[in-house]
Amino acid sequence: MAGEENGAGAPLLEVEHVKLHFPIKEGLVVDRVVARVHAVDDVTFTLHEGETLGLVGESGCGKSTLSRTIMRLNQPTEGKIVFRGQDVTKAKRKDLIPLRRDMQMVFQDPYASLNPRKRVIQLVGAPLRRNGVSSKDTERRVLELLDHVGLQREHRNRFPHEFSGGQRQRIGIARALALDPKLIVLDEPVSALDVSVQAQIVNLLDDLQDRMGLTYLFVAHDLSVVRHVSDRIAVMYLGKLMEVSPAEELYTKPIHPYTAALLQAIPIPDPRRNREREREVVGGEPPNPIDPPSGCVFHPRCPYATDVCRTVQPPLTRYAGDHLAACHHPLNVSAKELAAAERSDSSPLSAGAETPSEPAAA
Ligand SMILES: Nc1ncnc2c1ncn2[C@@H]1O[C@H](COP(=O)(O)OP(=O)(O)O)[C@@H](O)[C@H]1O
Ligand code: SF4
Ligand SMILES: [Mg+2]
Repeated sequence: MAGEENGAGAPLLEVEHVKLHFPIKEGLVVDRVVARVHAVDDVTFTLHEGETLGLVGESGCGKSTLSRTIMRLNQPTEGKIVFRGQDVTKAKRKDLIPLRRDMQMVFQDPYASLNPRKRVIQLVGAPLRRNGVSSKDTERRVLELLDHVGLQREHRNRFPHEFSGGQRQRIGIARALALDPKLIVLDEPVSALDVSVQAQIVNLLDDLQDRMGLTYLFVAHDLSVVRHVSDRIAVMYLGKLMEVSPAEELYTKPIHPYTAALLQAIPIPDPRRNREREREVVGGEPPNPIDPPSGCVFHPRCPYATDVCRTVQPPLTRYAGDHLAACHHPLNVSAKELAAAERSDSSPLSAGAETPSEPAAA
């Protein structure tokens, strides 16, 4: 919640107890809701000005749904989203126009998000034209944006298919930058790219952030991509936040068993060590978000699960150094740290009251 987390600047985006449950309907004449997909299930966090928050979790855990809800492309089922002090959840259509300028999104597949029949100048210039910028000023600005993202000015008359995947993502980034946004939600911006190109795009995003004072929500499905660009990392599982931590600390001292499992899954260069690590990765598929497990949603896959894990949803607990984790049996915390831990206001409303009393059994 606002002020609770120690970020780079003032709060820019506050996500408070946001839920998005997609109804599943059935029926020939009248639609009847037969089930709900718990895509985002009571998520709370604050993003500070100039900060990058990495949002990580396996495919299907709700990262895109949360991103789209922040952008108001989805209406949340419950909860509140506050951007620069304004409640976005209640914004009317006309209030959304300035908001849409300040918040932009970059998608995983730049090819799908770029109209194949439009030239670069039209694609990157479209947001400017829509906002009443003259065609002459638009052209000037587009050329400037192409410089910023490392594309040649001569490319302005080409079509998306004439570019490589990395270059297409540069076009997507240029378009997102056109209106000088404050926040960019990057939904797996490098997941579709070759590993060698991924680093170039991540470095570009990092440079642009420094130059333009941008704030990022950087979504990835694996922890290696976001390590060097994130100030903090949030780990999501089955619609819920499992851990939120300053970035480096998450890699050196994961508290949640799910984070530890994700870290084990990061490939490392030594093949012998890699084989050892593969054995340690938590097995099994994520459960169905239509019928999430009781208590801690990770319990069916967790090697440390006990009875309490099956019945009580663990609260997000705050440890030293603004490190939050939702687990009854935390890893890597001393008895002293455990005694000083507090229940965070970011905890889901349905979570238990008690903070953990014993660490994970070895
Ligand atoms: N429009 C929708 N209707 C119903 N279920 C959806 C819809 N969009 C996403 N989902 C479901 O919500 C869950 C989260 O999906 P998503 O946000 O795309 O995850 P991620 O981006 O982490 O891969 C998945 O189970 C997915 O099938
Ligand atoms: S609460 Fe229990 S099941 Fe959940 S991650 Fe912690 S130890 Fe595992
Ligand atoms: Mg996604």
